[in-house]
Amino acid sequence: MLPGDIGRWHAIERAFRETMERAGFREVRTPYVEPTPLFVRTIGEATDVVEKEMYSFLRHDEPLTLRPEGTAGAARAYVEHKVHNSEPVTKWYYIGPMFRAERPQKGRYRQFYQAGAEIYGDKGPASDAEMIDTLVGFLNAIGVSSPEVLVNSIGGSETRAKYRDAIVAALEPKKASLSDDSQKRLSTNPLRILDSKDPRDKEAIAQLPSLVDFLSDDDRAHFDALRRHLDALKTPYRVDPTLVRGLDYYTRTLFEIKGAKEILGAGDTLRGGGRYDHMVEELGGPSVPAIGFAAGLERLLIASTQAAELPIVHMYVATMGEKAESLGLAIAKDLRAAGLNAEVDARGASVKSQLRRANTLNATFAIVVGDREVEEASFELKHLASHSAEKVTRAVLLERVRALLATPPAAAATVGAS
Ligand code: HAM
Repeated sequence: MLPGDIGRWHAIERAFRETMERAGFREVRTPYVEPTPLFVRTIGEATDVVEKEMYSFLRHDEPLTLRPEGTAGAARAYVEHKVHNSEPVTKWYYIGPMFRAERPQKGRYRQFYQAGAEIYGDKGPASDAEMIDTLVGFLNAIGVSSPEVLVNSIGGSETRAKYRDAIVAALEPKKASLSDDSQKRLSTNPLRILDSKDPRDKEAIAQLPSLVDFLSDDDRAHFDALRRHLDALKTPYRVDPTLVRGLDYYTRTLFEIKGAKEILGAGDTLRGGGRYDHMVEELGGPSVPAIGFAAGLERLLIASTQAAELPIVHMYVATMGEKAESLGLAIAKDLRAAGLNAEVDARGASVKSQLRRANTLNATFAIVVGDREVEEASFELKHLASHSAEKVTRAVLLERVRALLATPPAAAATVGAS
């Protein structure tokens, strides 16, 4: 990622931090490396992430893994620090690199950044709706056109167990016609078959009973309330009964937000998330419900129309000769200490070429420091946009720069001659 992209990256990151902090979230930072069993237990043994995508290694016999996602580590930290003892509801967000051994292509990388958030301690559908709506607001703010919100409920563990049995009952007789992966998953993780893109599985999947019909009354009430909240918030969404997502820890609400396929290609899922009401307990904490999401920053960068932020150069100091270079460095140092951005050109290039560079960088001011300026300790302060200039001594340079920044000269006339 080169500096040209980093400007847009920062703008997206800033918008994310602002959005989340306005909604009461605080930043958490967890290690990049965690014990492997943490991910295996939470994400699930028979998932693509755990089976194929983790960078795992042994260090002095301890199995370690580069984190493939942020939810497990955050929950581990929540339990380890007994955060539930100090507050009833905890809202965290994070931004950082995640690692998955995938074949790199547009929007899909081995090391990618996620911007994510988690809420612990609120089991109500209102928090699900608020989270989804906050995300859509954030995407709009960074100029992602028409994000598509898909929601589904996969119910609690009872519902899932019943549905799992139904899938097995429906697919067992057709097992031989399924893809190799799905045949295996029929015994290890039948729900994951719904996610298969293999043409051999398509028809069988289409004929499966719908998960919605298996929801318990409580699950259904939760999902209906979520939809009423989203309607009230005027958040556009679509119920997708086939949405199951690739991680095993989810319960009830699932959601994904997709961007335009023509822009993003294969990796069109901008962000995904859902509720995971049992993870904290499974990691040794009390029974604390949770919900969260994560977005791929690289994908947001591709999808957003946020303009690049150009670096600001207040003062460009052109120099001619060694003494002038020394003075130029000192002037820049003073201006930087006063909070302004200053660049010194000591390439030994012609004045014309140095001033051309000042214009390219869109500098607000330029001064040319040569032998005479060193001797007189005064300069012609050029305001580049208005093509105006005035003579100033070093003693008042900062003061004049500040005054002109506050009230930029409008006319192209030369104010005071040198
Ligand atoms: P996930 O769907 O596995 O969910 O990943 C979330 C987002 O990370 C994806 O929607 C995508 O934008 C981005 N992403 C995933 N893999 C890659 C990759 N190889 N290259 C680029 N971007 C990628 C999770 O990770 C869950 N932890 C989300 C969550 C938080 N659920 C509850 N809380």
